[in-house]
Amino acid sequence: MQRTLLIVKPDGVVRRLIGKIIARFEDKGLRIVGMKMMRVSSALAKKHYAEHKGKSFYPCLINFITSGPVVVFVVEGVEAIAICRKMMGATFGPEAAPGTIRGDFGASRSNNLIHGSDSPKSAKREIALYFKSSELIKYSDEDYKWIYNYSEGNPV
Ligand code: RTP
Ligand code: MG
Repeated sequence: MQRTLLIVKPDGVVRRLIGKIIARFEDKGLRIVGMKMMRVSSALAKKHYAEHKGKSFYPCLINFITSGPVVVFVVEGVEAIAICRKMMGATFGPEAAPGTIRGDFGASRSNNLIHGSDSPKSAKREIALYFKSSELIKYSDEDYKWIYNYSEGNPV
């Protein structure tokens, strides 16, 4: 079971797309284990996007992610990281496939509605930036027995 960090970015909040975006991940069968609405500080944004420091778009990115409230949440499921990245779509709206979040809701090369961790290492780091472990819920896997096949022990 994997966990990944997702963020409805400021454009998604202002455009009243929070519910529609979050519903897609629930519909897929992923489980929300933590959630908060917050304003990302400049210091937190710089930590989060440290890998992009020095790139031409970095100032614009920090400005964008701190420009208004966001909804940060953690979802859990088998292969959750790759599934969420596929559901988000390519980075920019004009290139993102229809059926993906960015493909269906976005047309911008900057305001792209959603962030998702891109690897297990990033997920671990990013979850720890936004949540204390006590803020994340541990559910019983009873409901997952309807989503995954447990016949050989592990969910598949
Ligand atoms: P994210 O980290 O937000 O989930 O997006 P991503 O993996 O698809 O894209 P990434 O390469 O990590 O870039 C992070 C965010 O920076 C902005 N960006 N702007 N103008 C540009 O060329 C450019 N490139 C990236 C986007 O907001 C992107 O999501
Ligand atoms: Mg990224």
